[in-house]
Amino acid sequence: AHPQHSPNDFSDFRALAPSSADLFEVPEGYRADVLIGWGDPFADDDGATLRYGFNNDFLAYFPLRGDDEGLIFVNHEYPAPFFQHGNVDGARKTLEQVRIEQESVGNSIVHIKRGRDDVWQVVSPSSYNRRVTAHTTPLTFTGPLAANSAYPGIGTVAPGSLANCSGGITPWGTALSCEENYQDYGTTGGYGWVRPLLDTDDYVNGDGSSAARPAKFGWVCEHDPYDPSFTGAKHTALGRFRHENTAFRARPNKPFVLYMGDDRNDGAVYKFVSELPYRPGRRSENLRILASGKLYVARWEPDGRRRFDAAGTLLTATEGTGWWREVTEDELVDTHVRIASNVGAAEWTAHYATNRPEDVEVGEDGSVWIALTNNSGVNDVHGSIRRFVEHQNDATAVGEGAPFEWEDYAAGGRHDGAGTGEEGFSSPDNLVFDKAGNLWIVTDISSGTLNDPTRPQAFHANNAVFMIPAGQEAGAATAYRFANMPVQSEGTGPYFTPDEQTLFVNVQHPGENSSGDPSSTASYSSYWPKGSKTTERNPTKPIPATVAIT
Ligand code: FEO
Ligand code: CA
Ligand code: CA
Ligand code: CA
Repeated sequence: AHPQHSPNDFSDFRALAPSSADLFEVPEGYRADVLIGWGDPFADDDGATLRYGFNNDFLAYFPLRGDDEGLIFVNHEYPAPFFQHGNVDGARKTLEQVRIEQESVGNSIVHIKRGRDDVWQVVSPSSYNRRVTAHTTPLTFTGPLAANSAYPGIGTVAPGSLANCSGGITPWGTALSCEENYQDYGTTGGYGWVRPLLDTDDYVNGDGSSAARPAKFGWVCEHDPYDPSFTGAKHTALGRFRHENTAFRARPNKPFVLYMGDDRNDGAVYKFVSELPYRPGRRSENLRILASGKLYVARWEPDGRRRFDAAGTLLTATEGTGWWREVTEDELVDTHVRIASNVGAAEWTAHYATNRPEDVEVGEDGSVWIALTNNSGVNDVHGSIRRFVEHQNDATAVGEGAPFEWEDYAAGGRHDGAGTGEEGFSSPDNLVFDKAGNLWIVTDISSGTLNDPTRPQAFHANNAVFMIPAGQEAGAATAYRFANMPVQSEGTGPYFTPDEQTLFVNVQHPGENSSGDPSSTASYSSYWPKGSKTTERNPTKPIPATVAIT
């Protein structure tokens, strides 16, 4: 179970076996320390107390002093009424309960430093420390739909940011935060951020409905972690869909290209090609790059979706071609709904739909990698990692005459089944490459199927961090289990410091299926990180938190 392809010290580990323990487990020789978790205080230089948000997802490290001191930019995806205020009846929340939720999502920018003992610590107070929330941090719209009278539901400014799933960085030093399941907030069936509790309809988000309805969320947001006075931007040129993350290709003086997935069953893969060229070192110009350009959607041949019959036999090809269809301005506001309507449902299903694109990452050679997490509609239980290479490896290639080539590089599912760490992965979500080209994968098997012996996912046990060593052939790659997550959590936001001596991993939604009396610890299905359900140590509320593996 020991990877033989390990080209650097960091990835030379003895793989773990699957685990159902309420613990964060790493291989011998590594340590995992909680850096900061939900509710932990940190202060800006005015001494104002900030609180780390809930359900940490995307994380990126922005160096201040190389590998020893920097800023983490973190997304807080969605709230959990059960743990945060105990009122799980969305229709009858108080304004105070809505505010607790609104202030627990968004982003954190946290100044951190590595101590002499190699343990990372929060620097507080610090002028860099700040929070973006759903209602106290206005962001400005850019691009073709901003302040556009045809789309009065957008306007010029949004009251904040929410549903921030994964994200990305830019080569000019900003963070991109992706608003994903924005549809959950306004409806009474969801979080219920509606009148009469609120005096605004901003949180009511209609998919595919009239242009007049509020469309303040569902965008890619840009923030400058280094500049506490920076006003975040929401870029309408990048479309409005359930944005998972972004991954860029940039060459000096050429258009800047951003790849993105729309995380829903039968969602598509997109790319943005900027109008302005990327100019290294010219930051103020680069900060305008995402405001203008064209969006494209991937059309796959022969099938976008990896389909199985009910018995689990693969019905579709594992490789093919595809090309980029231009997205019109009219399609930007509800991108999935409008394109599907314009090309027709049958064409969409056959050639644009994929199996829920989560992270997209770009390899060293320019190849583009996508975690297609799963798709219950086509019996794809375990998902796959797909990669494609652009026509002549040109990131700006578009149209039917410039096709890309794709292949499913690694399929989820059971491999050796021996519990050696080579059992394979299921439901890949976030991806990251290290400098040696090893691919790191975190999984998101839903808590409803985790550890359920009647489900094919059961043998994977808890979610985990896997590594596929560089240089393996498509269809023959082995994934090694590097870390196990606590009960009912998913690992998110894996991100290396530049020296690769630290891997940050966020633990999102530990114990998420807890139910019963919210004030009773007997109701909690996880006690991580302050306790452990496995050892019955310190029964306490589970807390989403950021872990530093060193
Ligand atoms: Fe929030 Fe696509 O995961
Ligand atoms: Ca995700
Ligand atoms: Ca990633
Ligand atoms: Ca997921």
